[in-house]
Amino acid sequence: MNELPGSNLEVLLDAETIAGRVRELAAQISADYRGRPLRLVGILKGAWVFLADLARHLDLEVTVDFLSIASYGNNSYSSGAVRITKDLDQSIKGLDVLIVEDILDTGQTFEYLRGVLEAHKPKSLKLVTLLDKPSRRVRPVRADYVGFTIPDVFVAGYGLDYAQQYRHLPDVRIWRAT
Ligand code: PRP
Repeated sequence: MNELPGSNLEVLLDAETIAGRVRELAAQISADYRGRPLRLVGILKGAWVFLADLARHLDLEVTVDFLSIASYGNNSYSSGAVRITKDLDQSIKGLDVLIVEDILDTGQTFEYLRGVLEAHKPKSLKLVTLLDKPSRRVRPVRADYVGFTIPDVFVAGYGLDYAQQYRHLPDVRIWRAT
């Protein structure tokens, strides 16, 4: 029998640990936005798994939209050069908006996205990221909500990829070049 993809990779965050932290984040966000409708904007592709789990634990009036972006190149780490490949479907003007990301790394993507989305005049704009790698930051940005702060290792699974693989894994694993 063939081994499952990624079964050779070391688990950094198992599914149970992630699920527990996602519930905590959802409780905190629900308390902070209590009584206010919230628009989640998921950044594709990496955020789709996290957004699906987070949204289902929010005790709020929630709507969801997606923005699809692509970094130029196919490297392990983002180059900072970003292009939008799918824009928002609905206006965010006057809304409380929470950007949902899988990982905040150098900060270049978020800095770009923040500029693009603030131009649409939301009432508020915040960021929740499942993973934060502050040691990699080159831009002065921070997330409002962080699931896990992780060291500078390349991770895949739970939405994150290596060369488009491993996004479907239920946990976050460390990918190392062999
Ligand atoms: C990841 C992640 C962020 C970005 C963060 O996306 O989803 O958008 O990198 O990196 P930065 O802070 O260094 O800019 P990626 O380019 O891997 O695309 P994907 O979401 O489609 O996997």
